[in-house]
Amino acid sequence: MKFRKSAALLAAAFTVAGLTACGSDSDAPSGDSASSSTGIKGAVIGFAQVGSESGWRSANTDSIKAAAAKYGVDLKFTSAEGDQTKQIASIKTFITQGVDVIAFSPVVETGYDAVLQEAKAAGIPVILTDRAVDADPSLYKTFIGSDFIKEGEKAATWAKTEFADDAAVNMVVLEGTTGSAPANDRKTGWDNVLGKETKFKTLASQTGEFTRDGGKKVMEGFLAKYPNINLVYAHNDDMGLGAIEAIEAAGKVPGKDIKIVTIDAVKAGMEALAAGKINYIVECSPLLGDQLFDAASSVLAGKDIPARIITEEGEFNQAQAKAALPDRKY
Ligand code: AHR
Repeated sequence: MKFRKSAALLAAAFTVAGLTACGSDSDAPSGDSASSSTGIKGAVIGFAQVGSESGWRSANTDSIKAAAAKYGVDLKFTSAEGDQTKQIASIKTFITQGVDVIAFSPVVETGYDAVLQEAKAAGIPVILTDRAVDADPSLYKTFIGSDFIKEGEKAATWAKTEFADDAAVNMVVLEGTTGSAPANDRKTGWDNVLGKETKFKTLASQTGEFTRDGGKKVMEGFLAKYPNINLVYAHNDDMGLGAIEAIEAAGKVPGKDIKIVTIDAVKAGMEALAAGKINYIVECSPLLGDQLFDAASSVLAGKDIPARIITEEGEFNQAQAKAALPDRKY
C-alpha cells in the first residue's frame, strides 16, 4: 500500500517536471521494459496462480517468477491447484495484507465478482493474466493474455483443410477445465469455423482437466466406445500427449490412424509434432511475466493502460515445429 502512495507521488512529480522542463524528460520513465522495471522496484504484488496442471502452466509460473526477480518486485505467489475457493481465499489474503497490486489467472470464468469488489473497496488494483472472468470490467485494470476464440478458429481452419477431401470426419474432443475461459472459448472458436459443417461429427466431448493423465483416461474411454475416430481436438498439448499414449496402447498410430490437433506449443507438444504424432499445434504463449509487470508498473504510476492486452502467437505444422524446436524456451 505504501508503494502505491509513493508511486502516485512520483507520477505527479514526473508530470510537474515534464511541464516545467518543456518536454525535456530524459530522466522520466519512457514506458519500455527497462524503465518500467525501475518504476516498479520494491512493489508488493500478489499473484494467485491456477495450479500446476500442465506444461503451459509451469512455463507461465516460471515466466512470472523470473520477471518478478528481474523487475525487483516482492512477489507473493500462491497456487490454487485448480480450486477456485482456494484461489479466492488467496486473493482475500492479499487484500488483508494490503499488497500494491493483485494479479491472478482465474480458474473458471464466473464467481469472482465479490472478491473483485473487495479489492476495489480496498483500493488495490487488479490485473487479470491468461484467463478472463465474466465480471464488470471496471473491477480490474486490464486482461493480459491470448485470444482463445481465435486459437479455436485456427485449429478448426487447419482441420477443414486437412480433411477437405474426406466425406465424413469422426471427431472426439478433449476439453479443458469445465467453465474455464480457454475451454469455453476454444469450443466457440472451433464452432465458429466448423459448427455448420455437418461432415464433422462430434462422437464425444469430455473434459480431461487440461492434464496429461486426464487426456489419457478420457481418450481410453473414447477408444473403447468408438472404433472409428479420425480426429482428436485437444484443448491443450498435455491432453493431446495423454491421448497419444492411449492411442498407442490401443494399437493405433497417432498422427496417422487418428489425427490430432492441439493448442499451446510447449516443448513436449512440439516434439510430438516433430515426430508426427501430433499433426498441428496452435500456439498459446505462457510468457506473460514481462507484460504483467510492465502493466502493473504503469498502473502504479497512475497511467492509463489498455483494457485488453492480447498476446501474439503463431501456429505450427511438422516442418515448422522441427525448425522452431532448437530455440524453444518452454
Ligand atoms: O489458460 C491457458 C491454458 O491453461 C493452457 O492452454 C493450458 O495448457 C493451461 O492449463
